[in-house]
Amino acid sequence: MGKRVCPWWLGYVLVSPWRRWREDPRAILAPYVRAGMTVLEPGPGMGFFTLELARLVGPKGRVIAVDVQSRMLERLKRRAAKAGVAERIEARQAAADSMGVADLAASVDFTLAFAVVHEMLEASVFFAEAAAASKPGALLLLAEPSGHVNQAEFDAELQAAAAAGFVVVDRPVIRRSLAAVLRKS
Ligand SMILES: C[S@@+](CC[C@H](N)C(=O)[O-])C[C@H]1O[C@@H](n2cnc3c(N)ncnc32)[C@H](O)[C@@H]1O
Repeated sequence: MGKRVCPWWLGYVLVSPWRRWREDPRAILAPYVRAGMTVLEPGPGMGFFTLELARLVGPKGRVIAVDVQSRMLERLKRRAAKAGVAERIEARQAAADSMGVADLAASVDFTLAFAVVHEMLEASVFFAEAAAASKPGALLLLAEPSGHVNQAEFDAELQAAAAAGFVVVDRPVIRRSLAAVLRKS
């Protein structure tokens, strides 16, 4: 596991309803996610964004949620079942140094990386794996908490993304986050 991984108990805080006041998941995701899409979500935690992703992709889409912590994934699965979207979500446990998504090669339409890349051992490995999993032209929304990641660190993540073949196409405004939309070239 990485050095700065979010403790599992914080997962409960991250899915609490108050968070919607500053980060409305539907407003953040709706511009990018359509019915029938295949979505990759590294670091879903207990699924604050995952349930909304599952609603947006609909019954014919799927969300592959990949986390290093089994406690996050177990809670995510229970929340998905309660919301009636469990069959659209595949929860996978990742190793700290790899998402383990080689089987997704060129099949992902959209990747959400929200408050996770700074916890990974190597951003370059993440972006290389995300690029290999993505269809040509697929989008990736990268958002990092501005309280934990400074502009220079965010720019370094964007450089790692560029080396993997992602191009910045937008800079959405998300409260308390540094954010960019990347397109796989
Ligand atoms: C700060 S939480 C963010 C959770 C969620 N994205 C959200 O915004 O509510 C970071 C999550 O990333 C996971 N994580 C950390 N390193 C990871 C890695 N190398 N691969 C996959 N998930 C990772 C942690 O276990 C945790 O669930």
